[in-house]
Amino acid sequence: MRLENKVCLITGAGSGIGQSTAYLFAQEGASVIVNDLDTEKGQGTVEHIREQGGEAIFLQADVTDSVQMRQMAAKAVEAYGHIDVLFNNAGISGVGMLHEVELEKWEQVMRVNINGVFLPSKHVLPYMMERRQGSIINMSSCIAEIGLARRASYAASKGAVLALTKSMQVDYAPYGIRVNALLPGTILTPFVEQYLKESYDDQEEAIASLKTRQLSGDLGRPDDVARAALFLASDESRFMMGSPLYIDGGVVFGKNA
Ligand SMILES: NC(=O)c1ccc[n+]([C@@H]2O[C@H](COP(=O)([O-])OP(=O)(O)OC[C@H]3O[C@@H](n4cnc5c(N)ncnc54)[C@H](O)[C@@H]3O)[C@@H](O)[C@H]2O)c1
Repeated sequence: MRLENKVCLITGAGSGIGQSTAYLFAQEGASVIVNDLDTEKGQGTVEHIREQGGEAIFLQADVTDSVQMRQMAAKAVEAYGHIDVLFNNAGISGVGMLHEVELEKWEQVMRVNINGVFLPSKHVLPYMMERRQGSIINMSSCIAEIGLARRASYAASKGAVLALTKSMQVDYAPYGIRVNALLPGTILTPFVEQYLKESYDDQEEAIASLKTRQLSGDLGRPDDVARAALFLASDESRFMMGSPLYIDGGVVFGKNA
């Protein structure tokens, strides 16, 4: 029980990495606040946790909406008294070379991926500051460190999240709050399946080609990232501050040939 008595709020926990993390955190004894824009998906996550004997509630809200984020933080505290861990996980993909990207789509990627870290943090931090403790985990991507074809908007947004993480850490360290970032490589989730559908005719061939990018020769699983999030959420990572944690099968620091 590595998260016993901890209250953990996870955004975008109705699918993929967020959902996997919600399951793992609940197994490890946390009370989990599942946030998602999509009610059906979010409730699905909560039902599964409860079936397994865990503790969870669902709070539907849009991470890009400041009023909704303020209400979400207040409701979470009303339900469990405080918030120990905020995992800013919700995010969307952005595909295309810069000159191909429409302004509207660019702004949507920035809104969800950057404002979607800013706003939950803005409204949860005062509660953490009051207790002088907390762990915030921001979802960046290994694309913050390497160039990757046709991902201009997505790369810009995830680079911003990494920079924001470091600045947040400096500001909130005096309050006993740790802020770290996760940098996953390609993890097979509905998010990646959607990207494959949009970008390739032959799905099998696309997956085979993606696998060659990793030194591991395989794609990551949501649970691989959930386990890294568990470490950052728990007190085991008490000396990690402002750090990027890579879960990428060797993409950033390795090369196959
Ligand atoms: N899958 C990968 O390969 C990969 C790699 C690196 C980083 N990431 C990042 O991990 C995070 C999760 O990705 P995933 O692959 O699990 O995606 P996913 O699409 O499976 O899940 C994302 C969830 O976020 C929710 N969401 C989207 N917009 C929202 C909003 N405005 N408010 C609240 N919830 C919202 C969606 O409804 C969905 O349930 C994203 O930030 C993504 O950029 C993913």
